[in-house]
Amino acid sequence: MADYITIPDPAANYPTSPDAEFPRARGDAITGERYTSKAFAEAEWQKMWTRVWHLGGRVSQLEEAGDFVTHNFLRQSVIMVKQQDGSIRAFHNVCRHRGNRLVGTAEGGVNGHFTCPYHGWKWGIDGGLDWVQDEEDFAEGSPCGKLRLKEVPCETWGGFIFYSFDPNAVPLLEYLHPIPTLLAGRDLASWKRVVWRTLRVNTNWKFASDNFNEAYHIPAVHPQFEGMIDDHYSTTVFEMYPTGHNRMIEKLQPSSRYPDAQQVKPLWADVLKEWGLDPAEFEGRAQEGRIALQQARRKLGPARGFVHFDTLSDAELTDQFHHTCFPNLTITGTPEGLHVFRTEPDMEDPNWSTFDYWYLSPEVKGQDIPTLYGMRTWADAEHQTGEFAAYQAEIKQGDFLIQDLEVAVSQQQGLHSLGFDKAYLAGQETRVHRFHEVLNDYIEGRR
Ligand code: FES
Repeated sequence: MADYITIPDPAANYPTSPDAEFPRARGDAITGERYTSKAFAEAEWQKMWTRVWHLGGRVSQLEEAGDFVTHNFLRQSVIMVKQQDGSIRAFHNVCRHRGNRLVGTAEGGVNGHFTCPYHGWKWGIDGGLDWVQDEEDFAEGSPCGKLRLKEVPCETWGGFIFYSFDPNAVPLLEYLHPIPTLLAGRDLASWKRVVWRTLRVNTNWKFASDNFNEAYHIPAVHPQFEGMIDDHYSTTVFEMYPTGHNRMIEKLQPSSRYPDAQQVKPLWADVLKEWGLDPAEFEGRAQEGRIALQQARRKLGPARGFVHFDTLSDAELTDQFHHTCFPNLTITGTPEGLHVFRTEPDMEDPNWSTFDYWYLSPEVKGQDIPTLYGMRTWADAEHQTGEFAAYQAEIKQGDFLIQDLEVAVSQQQGLHSLGFDKAYLAGQETRVHRFHEVLNDYIEGRR
């Protein structure tokens, strides 16, 4: 069996993490049943989802004390609310009188209290119970000062709010390690979420963890990237960390997969020209354009408004840094911004999931932000939600998210087949194996 990791070009000045570990995959079987079985989904809830950190929102959604966001996960719901001292605390979204869901909206603001719609109990934003109707009529004594909303761990990093159902969760930065360190060149707390979409998709949530853990699918699913993203495993950096998270770095250059990789094709010529480089100079040595691009962006970027280039490494000025955070979050850093992908399981059916796509951007003075959906002003986006089928009809073909999600739907169909027993993975897909083995470690009590 081949080693799972390839660092083919240490001279390329990649910020390879010292936290990467180099074990071989155990080889746990990745069966279709993992994606289709209600019993397996229940085990995921009981043994894994109750113990990990969940992405709940952006800090920028909470401006004043009393501002809140809620996050529904399977049958649970959590309120994250800004406190008088500016901190954020999270509580189970349930009234402890008779179990009514306390807040029914995704976000909003309250003036000091959450008032339960059923009997009017008033819960302070700090979780204390401040007022009940007919306080004297309780044989066990007034619940005020006695009951509190059940609190869950809540922490922030990079402008993201996270919570956990596990009262004994390790600190967030320890859980995410080393991802925050690897992304430290980006001042994410100040970046705005200029795209915020949630789609309901006919596939299991694990498709995204699998998909974003490998580049093996790119030639077949995203052929448009051939001229500018090098998907070949010989030039890609693969890393796995003891915390269960992974990283993959793809170079911005024509793919080494093809014999004409050193010819300048139109897409690559456009990339070079955009930064003042003459494509003709790179004919026969097209991949050398990557280093030239780094130098051009370093020199010209700040004057063009890309002041954040000053804190990025040379490789970060060109390449795609995919961080797959166990279990369901992928954060991809590009020179221009940050793609955030998240999938979550459906409440009833393991064949369905929700897929979130956020695009975060730094301010580029005086310029709108190019996104998958055209130009956007540098401002927090409204939340757009819908069915994937409607999104397919709206968005032009060639959108890489459509391409990934179409394959996710057809894979989910295939995973039910009697003709599929288990996955047969290439070495460059070892992080897929690793993801499932970390999941098994949770379910089987090794984590
Ligand atoms: Fe909330 Fe009764 S259930 S006040």
